[in-house]
Amino acid sequence: MTAQRVAAHRLTFTRLASSSGQPLDDEALARDVAGVTLVEESRLRQYLSSRTTFFDAVLVGALDAGFRQVVILGAGYDARSLRYARAGVRFFEVDLAGTQLDKLERLARLGASIAAVTYLSADFAADRVDERLVDAGLDVASPSLFVLEGVVPYLHADVLAALCTTMRRVAADGSLFAISVGIERRADDDAEAAGQAAAFRARVGAMGEPVLTTLGPDDGVNLLARCGWEVRHDARALRDDAGLDSRRRSLGLLLASAAATG
Ligand SMILES: C[S@@+](CC[C@H](N)C(=O)[O-])C[C@H]1O[C@@H](n2cnc3c(N)ncnc32)[C@H](O)[C@@H]1O
Repeated sequence: MTAQRVAAHRLTFTRLASSSGQPLDDEALARDVAGVTLVEESRLRQYLSSRTTFFDAVLVGALDAGFRQVVILGAGYDARSLRYARAGVRFFEVDLAGTQLDKLERLARLGASIAAVTYLSADFAADRVDERLVDAGLDVASPSLFVLEGVVPYLHADVLAALCTTMRRVAADGSLFAISVGIERRADDDAEAAGQAAAFRARVGAMGEPVLTTLGPDDGVNLLARCGWEVRHDARALRDDAGLDSRRRSLGLLLASAAATG
């Protein structure tokens, strides 16, 4: 349900262009999923727009820089694996079996070409995602881009930490991890921010996907550091960042490199 709402919003955003890929397949899926879901102007919508820009820029930047493996964790109805498909690049998508089955049925019905994507079903709380990725052909000797967009609230803190740690274990030097955590709380709008956070909790809780973890940007940086990922403060890996760079940390949009193991 939450992935469906994100898809409905994302359908209305201007996306980063790429010289290759199947953007029409991504759009067809989002339209199919969104159905009659209405999106209204809101701060959530502005946040999702910035988030989409960030992940598009990281992904296209990484591909331009020569990355040949992308792992999208909790992919939901995101189809960047199709939108930004490129010859020689392998995409892995991981999600709960139910979400993924529904996505695959829709993609088949829409006639999308999915041959270059490896779909793995897994529950981060119960399954060894690292082993599944390696069994499915992830090359642990080559750098990967790992993506975790909009998933943090739905995982228990220990499950999230275990996921970040195990992804580091299968990440070659030079790998990147792009993750969205929560936004920074500003002292001057505490009441408004608290109200919005409560509304968000109530809404996703009512959809049967309760918020299990709330992390701000600093918590996210610390968690990643404990799990072997060093958050980068430069924008070199981002393409066409659309002026997002100065705000992205306060929005909890973090890009980390695999820290050296000692
Ligand atoms: C809000 S959606 C975000 C989807 C997608 N990343 C996006 O930005 O459109 C959260 C996703 O996390 C997945 N998810 C939640 N808990 C999970 C778990 N324990 N294991 C694997 N995936 C999970 C859901 O199935 C859903 O697709």
